[in-house]
Amino acid sequence: MQKLFYPKKNMFKNPLIKNMCEYRDLVDEFDKDYEGTWAKFANEKIDWFKPYDQILDESNAPFYKWFTGGQMNVAHQCVDRHLETKKNKAAIIFEGDNGDQRILTYRELAYEVNKTANMFKNNFGVKKGDRVVIYMPMIPESAIVMLACAKIGAIHSVVFGGFSAEALRDRIIDAEAKLVVTADGAYRKGKPYMLKPVVDIALSSGCECVQNVCVVERNGENIEWIAGRDYSYNELIKEQSSKCQTEPMDSEDPLFLLYTSGSTGKPKGVQHSSAGYILWAQMTMEWVFDIQDNDTFWCTADVGWITGHTYIVYGPLAAGATTVMFEGVPTFPDAGRCWKMVEEYQINQFYTAPTAIRLLHKMGADEPTKYDLSSLRILGTVGEPIDPPAWKWYYEVVGNSNCSIVDTYWQTETGGHVISPLPVATPIKPACATFALPGIIAEVIESDGTPTEIGEKGLMCITKPWPAMIRTIWNNDERFIKSYFGDCKKEGKAIYFSGDGAMIDEDGYITITGRTDDVINVSGHRMGTAEVESAIKKHDNVASVAVVGKPHEIKGEGIFAYVVLKSVPTTQKDQTAEEFALAKEINAMIKTEIGAIALCDGMIFVSDLPKTRSGKVMRRILRSIAKGEKITQDISTLENPNIVKSIEKIFNS
Ligand code: PRX
Repeated sequence: MQKLFYPKKNMFKNPLIKNMCEYRDLVDEFDKDYEGTWAKFANEKIDWFKPYDQILDESNAPFYKWFTGGQMNVAHQCVDRHLETKKNKAAIIFEGDNGDQRILTYRELAYEVNKTANMFKNNFGVKKGDRVVIYMPMIPESAIVMLACAKIGAIHSVVFGGFSAEALRDRIIDAEAKLVVTADGAYRKGKPYMLKPVVDIALSSGCECVQNVCVVERNGENIEWIAGRDYSYNELIKEQSSKCQTEPMDSEDPLFLLYTSGSTGKPKGVQHSSAGYILWAQMTMEWVFDIQDNDTFWCTADVGWITGHTYIVYGPLAAGATTVMFEGVPTFPDAGRCWKMVEEYQINQFYTAPTAIRLLHKMGADEPTKYDLSSLRILGTVGEPIDPPAWKWYYEVVGNSNCSIVDTYWQTETGGHVISPLPVATPIKPACATFALPGIIAEVIESDGTPTEIGEKGLMCITKPWPAMIRTIWNNDERFIKSYFGDCKKEGKAIYFSGDGAMIDEDGYITITGRTDDVINVSGHRMGTAEVESAIKKHDNVASVAVVGKPHEIKGEGIFAYVVLKSVPTTQKDQTAEEFALAKEINAMIKTEIGAIALCDGMIFVSDLPKTRSGKVMRRILRSIAKGEKITQDISTLENPNIVKSIEKIFNS
């Protein structure tokens, strides 16, 4: 039997859910009156401008609507409503790459948000429902700009700063953005890097929808200014009033779009609502992170991902907490940077990805012991399965065997955590997401709804709608239905399928076993194999390609490509040199089309790909080869069975 780790209850003073009995009571409450219990929390947590008429509208499933008829505003929920009790409390603590610091109190944040919102309205004509693309580094202005959009009802779409001009352009066009907010650049590892030039390239074709670019001057490097289009945020902000009227938003008005990878080449604009999203962001902050008034919370994600949205900006601020934003990287100037910051800011909850944990473990296993980390109560992980050695180091060395580890399972589409330990209640099994949170009806089933046997792999589904769930894919309702409600049914009704596999053990603990579709999880970031393949196919000499995940010591999964060339080098000597050059060119292509996060960790050149008689590439076989597994499946039915041996030979050479 697996060892259980019990929470050190003396570390926690005033938790909301104190033990498993209270957890089960809450689960029962939802079981007895699902909608009524959600309504209870919505009434308690949200500062409504106008009460809602209906809790859940299922009339147009799976386009579920929550709290219809109600009005509120997310910026008010996160900032303005706190001014009465917390105006001088730190809302955002910022630490720059080079160690510069900035603290914004709730009052200062409110003023900055208002000024920015006024700028968007007055200088750029942004109105409710307009889309604003945010391509920013990790500086407080990113959060300010997001909240300013919320304040006036504009829909933001944050694009991760590591994405290329092409990727940015696709997202701008799909969202038909009116305004792009960016920075000249920022700092990484002690050096300036640039963002605005990437925006310039993105806007050089096909982005007629964009009227203006607003540039936050962060690193002061030289950039090009296009007259009439580009404006300095730093200049315009000086003229703005710090008072701004809050736009009353319907519960279902979209708060943001966030593009994520799926199993086709084109990323999906996941659309989130206002009330349901913020309710769950706040509730999970309180339940999973046990956020208390004097806590300092640090999530190391980038605001360009959902983790940054929900657990750097919206969740902590809705809960009235102090959130830390860090511009730099965990290994600069050395692998002790995070632990130094934990000591300095007396961080109480530290939330990061297994990739970072593995890297910090590898680069400085003893580093945490050099700092006073006794303020920590909760250590969180997110984005990918955490392996037992990384978990052990995190628990024993970083947490000094005192902290609760919350292995939080969720997705861009779920808005917030869905399966996670509760830090004071749940006895933890290492590297296991444990149980569904109250209100989330998570089931591990076959596609027809039959529950899987204990210890058997099944599909991770959520069988009832929940307030923070994705509402649709921007401009593509059909793809929304197909992607999430097309695969699984329960009692004849289409249910939400996450795309992940999972397993339940004899104690009811849920372990996530990974994606069941063609999505790879690189350093906790989702990457569609089709997306990478379509970038590679743009190379003139590529005839066909298949991309799969390959286990990677630090990243969890790396990207591995099998490439078939149109013209093959003839001699052995030419081949090696040419293939080396081609691999470089192909990676450069990926960098241009998507960004450095999608670079291949490995690539081999093969004469063909294994295919079924109907021409479908057998990725399962390619995945097995990349993992170094023996091919056990029957390959005799393939159109070209001999290719498998040939690929294995090249792979092993
Ligand atoms: O495969 C699951 C994995 O990350 C995917 C979601 O990726 P994304 O939408 O980019 O959001 C990442 C941050 C929430 C999931 O489908 N995943 C996320 N958390 C875990 C996880 N896999 C295992 N354990 C987790 N705790």
